[in-house]
Amino acid sequence: PINKKVDSLIKIMTLKEKIGQMNQYNGFWDVTGPAPDNGDAEIKYEHLKNGLVGSMLSVRGTKAVRAVQKIAVEESRLGIPLIIGFDVIHGYKTLSPIPLAEAASWDLEAIEKSAQVAAAEASAAGINWTFAPMVDISRDPRWGRVMEGAGEDPFLGSKIAVARVKGFQGDDLSAVNTIAACAKHFAAYGFSEAGKEYNTVDIGNSTLHNTVLPPFKAAVEANVKTLMNAFNEYDGVPATGNEYLLRNILKDKWGFKGFVITDWASIKEMVIWGYAKDKRDAAKIAALAGSDMDMESHIYVSELEQLVKDGVIDEKIIDEAARRILTVKFELGLFDDPYRYCDETREKEVVNSPKHLDVVLDMAKKSIVLLKNENDLLPLKKQGQNIALIGALANEKNSPLGSWRIASKDNTGVSVLEGMQNYKDNNLIYKKGADITVGDTQFVNELTINTTDKSEFNEAIDVAKKADVVVMVLGEHGFQSGEARSRTDINLPGVQQELLEAIYKVNKNIVLVLNNGRPLSITWADKHIPAILETWQLGTQAGHAVAQVLYGDYNPSGKLPMTFPRNVGQIPIYYNHKNTGRPVRDAFNPELVFWSHYSDVENTPLYHFGHGLSYTTFKYENLALEKTVFGMDETINISVGITNTGKVTGKEVAQLYIRDLVASTTRPVKELKGFELIELQAGETKTVNFVLNKASLGFYNNQGDFIIEPGTFEIFIGGSSQTTLNTRFELE
Ligand code: IFM
Repeated sequence: PINKKVDSLIKIMTLKEKIGQMNQYNGFWDVTGPAPDNGDAEIKYEHLKNGLVGSMLSVRGTKAVRAVQKIAVEESRLGIPLIIGFDVIHGYKTLSPIPLAEAASWDLEAIEKSAQVAAAEASAAGINWTFAPMVDISRDPRWGRVMEGAGEDPFLGSKIAVARVKGFQGDDLSAVNTIAACAKHFAAYGFSEAGKEYNTVDIGNSTLHNTVLPPFKAAVEANVKTLMNAFNEYDGVPATGNEYLLRNILKDKWGFKGFVITDWASIKEMVIWGYAKDKRDAAKIAALAGSDMDMESHIYVSELEQLVKDGVIDEKIIDEAARRILTVKFELGLFDDPYRYCDETREKEVVNSPKHLDVVLDMAKKSIVLLKNENDLLPLKKQGQNIALIGALANEKNSPLGSWRIASKDNTGVSVLEGMQNYKDNNLIYKKGADITVGDTQFVNELTINTTDKSEFNEAIDVAKKADVVVMVLGEHGFQSGEARSRTDINLPGVQQELLEAIYKVNKNIVLVLNNGRPLSITWADKHIPAILETWQLGTQAGHAVAQVLYGDYNPSGKLPMTFPRNVGQIPIYYNHKNTGRPVRDAFNPELVFWSHYSDVENTPLYHFGHGLSYTTFKYENLALEKTVFGMDETINISVGITNTGKVTGKEVAQLYIRDLVASTTRPVKELKGFELIELQAGETKTVNFVLNKASLGFYNNQGDFIIEPGTFEIFIGGSSQTTLNTRFELE
């Protein structure tokens, strides 16, 4: 068994070598070229040869991985293979939609498949560990990294976390097409104050246990092999040095057996936070807290040995970390064959395989959300229409790829223009209306969608005047969300709002196709524009997916995984909020003053969590509960009838929410506890069954213990968090 093998290896390792396993370097030189012979790179290279590096990140491609692996295996004393990590966030070269978009599908099978494709391509390119899934719950669209997660809800977030872990890791980690996953960022990074990147987090225990931690716990229960901690502090203690989170909760309470990697340089940053005195202090704090591997702080490798020799850290701490890391390497099969992920023939076959295009196209279509569709403006007619396509993003092949796609080639996405050009029986004219100015790489800070020349605006207006329908592709460029892309303004960036209003003056038949990595506040558009389609950044096949939905070859079924605010001032706004002592009626009433509200905007969001329309309509009826009083250990079966009342086949995500009316800590006004994705032919009715049990009805108290209390529960069922049917039961 693996633990015996790990034990025997640990026994023959020197302290230095064990610490070496805890050290991870970013790719620091062109590994296929000559060895570095000066500066930092030379030192790192010496470490690699001497068994003082356990992992490298961002080395990719079989040739490069083989080259570094060869040094570790053939030149170091014990020949321990490296584990090769990479940010495979929504695909390797063939890209799926950004994770927030995938979450909008509520389709766990499709999400798992998409992660499988990512794992297949990455593993064929030498990688055996991804820094995904990001399972940070967030209620703040100002935070650019919401694009990487599953949105605001811990129940949906947990299901998706499990689907992604299963997709990456499969049933057999030693299979050559699976890779180790990493649930990140532990914990509470999604609650960075004011949505500002790398900021302080200050949330209470109830939010930590009930909202932030559940997706991590679900990932651990799904056997995720690694976790990454976070840049933020939690309750005054940086996550990297947070013993409560890492030891007490993760390793002790949850029994996590894998290893914890720090985020980039986050051990070093504890000094800057003012939590550690110096590098030595930071190393001590992080190791004692339970951070097993140091990503790019270079501190474990320089400090830990002396700390052990001085008796400050027990060698057992080092043994434990090394043991965890080595176990995952054994499980990946790296000790059987360190080059098992370095097969060039497989790399050629699998990376960019045409089969993968079908999977990501399917995922992309499922991720689209129809937000509004007045007068059935959508789907577009397939023949005889004059269509004006407007907006710089409509002709973009880079933006749809989204953020976090380091290995993929620029400009390899299908643009909306290309997708629409496949429908040849309409007259399609494209005008950009404005320019996107973006630097060469994704590491640009400023990116604009502007116009220097009003003639572009005017050309677009002229074309719009003559069109039957105007399709406007507006929103954010793919690099306007992601890490370090926090924004205080989440309206349409640049001149796009002005362009939209100018076109609206000449033609009201507008379909707004949104591209974005976060909820945007599009209140004006919602009021005036008849049809709005949320298409996020959909990856390699984006344009085909959008065109197929626009033309009705695919009936949209996505539902929002995150609330859309009316304006930025409403943030954080989320469906599972508390009632407060003074809840105000939803309708805005200027005569009600001393209630929980704003005086300039109503309390409701622009689009609710779970909202999404279809080209057909669904009716919910006959909500049935077998009885109205249940015992604690009983299973509660609930059924509802759903009928497709429209003219075409469609898919619907039926959602079940509960409310615990009175509890020892206040509970949200609604909490998602079940959902079911079903397909119905026109006129067809299906009964959907939901099951609630202790796990769905309990909650975490402020000590982090899961409890269940008797009392009255309300159930709501419908096609969004604004559900249509409800009933109550008692739990005794
Ligand atoms: O995985 C990422 C993390 O999410 C942010 N910092 C860098 C890591 C490695 O690239």
